[in-house]
Amino acid sequence: MKITVIGTGYVGAVHAACMADIGHEVLGVDVDADRIRALASGRAPVHEPGLDEILARTLASGRLRLSTSLADAAAAASTHFICVGTPQRSDGQAADLRYVDAVIDGLAPHLRPGSLVVGKSTVPAGTAVRLGARLAATSPGTEVAWNPEFLREGSAVEDTLRPARLVVGVASAHAEAVLRAVYAPMLRAKVPFISTDPTTAELVKVAANAFLATKISFINAMAEVCDAAAADVAVLSAALGADPRIGPRFLQSGLGFGGSCFPKDIRAFAARAAQIGAAESVEILNEVDRINLRQRRRTVDRARELLGGSFTGRRVAVLGAAFKPDSDDVRDSPALAVAVAASREGADVLVHDPQALDNARATCPELTYASDVPKVCDDADLVLHLTAWQEYRKLNPASLAEVVRTAVLLDARNSLDPQPWWSAGWTVCVPGRPLLSPSALPSTSASSGRGGEQCMPS
Ligand code: NAD
Ligand code: UGA
Repeated sequence: MKITVIGTGYVGAVHAACMADIGHEVLGVDVDADRIRALASGRAPVHEPGLDEILARTLASGRLRLSTSLADAAAAASTHFICVGTPQRSDGQAADLRYVDAVIDGLAPHLRPGSLVVGKSTVPAGTAVRLGARLAATSPGTEVAWNPEFLREGSAVEDTLRPARLVVGVASAHAEAVLRAVYAPMLRAKVPFISTDPTTAELVKVAANAFLATKISFINAMAEVCDAAAADVAVLSAALGADPRIGPRFLQSGLGFGGSCFPKDIRAFAARAAQIGAAESVEILNEVDRINLRQRRRTVDRARELLGGSFTGRRVAVLGAAFKPDSDDVRDSPALAVAVAASREGADVLVHDPQALDNARATCPELTYASDVPKVCDDADLVLHLTAWQEYRKLNPASLAEVVRTAVLLDARNSLDPQPWWSAGWTVCVPGRPLLSPSALPSTSASSGRGGEQCMPS
């Protein structure tokens, strides 16, 4: 099939490359000419495992082509996927739909009758119906469907090629048939295909993100209770997750969620619900947001406490800048939010990240960055573990203890094994885990090289 993918960011670049890889002829379109040039020469705009290889393959085969023109898009195919951003509006909590609207308006004069425009961007319930009416006014015989995207950054290629489910919101049998043909290899692999109306499809997407965000905030609220009660959130989370009705995923406590989606999506959902008279039904999302943002403040407070009450003139090493591991995305990164807060309070902050340093530098130029962990930790009074990259689990605490000034680690992601750090003399602080057994410690003296301690909450 011939399709176009309009917007070639995290979602669009992966969708375009993967659709070409399963055999379609794809034209990727973006207003960002630099991005299109880079993609055309095989450079992925984002760090995503597997994407470079698929890009190389599909460009070489000629099945993936790139353009900056919506007129080219309309001429190239009759099925168009919209993957442009839907960020939070600058004047409130609602989604900013100007990019989606611009694509519809830009395509409209060029579309042939029978064309299908398929939204993948995350939008408020009712958007497809509104856009369908807008398009029908200028381009009779065209149709808008919604096929929300559920991929996760860091596993976007895998999620696209082997999704947990496909959800399509369609208003006609023709639209459903087109989407079944696009995803034929997935359907042959028995991926569940859920066909519904466009508004329900839009709601499935925001409800899924709202549910996952709620699960994370729930476990972070439990971590706060564990701190107050001197209980261990890691054990609590494992025990909750062992119940198959609850499940273990998205119960990792820590610094909370960030990124370009959960925060803005729960706010946009609440804003849309208020517009349609259902504010009360999603009031929980305001609390989810508050709990989430509180984890950043609590991390800053705990760090300040560990430094004896003030950041001023203290050196802080930050491990992680990306909003999650395996991604170079720093949009609304909790790690950077904490690093910036420490810097604003007078700390000398050095940041490490395996992939996100360029994006972090561009976003927070006031911080200092280095690509090597010992350099970042050199003379540090405190080490903050803020993004749970796998490589941080392989660090050698003994050699890091030799370069820092004070061997104190705040594992705000609750994902490092504290034992080797204690053994190397570190004091290890993990929010929600005040009761890690002191008997497991080789000694109670911190930063002496003779064995570390578990710090207690204030
Ligand atoms: P992004 O910001 O990375 O990419 C958006 C792209 O659209 C940019 O390259 C931009 O230049 C381009 N664009 C903007 N206006 C355009 C226009 N008029 N014509 C052509 N191109 C245009 O965004 P993203 O992270 O890929 O997210 C896209 C959508 O998908 C959002 O609605 C998001 O909520 C949703 N989503 C994102 C993810 C994710 O993991 N990032 C996952 C699922 C859903
Ligand atoms: C999330 C969803 O998982 C995707 O299904 C969805 O398509 C996407 O949002 C979107 O709509 O954009 P993503 O943001 O890439 O994907 O990453 P997640 O793995 O969901 O993590 C989101 C944030 O939650 C990260 O900051 C992560 O560190 C945090 N998180 C995740 C936790 O704090 N605890 C957990 O248990 C899981």
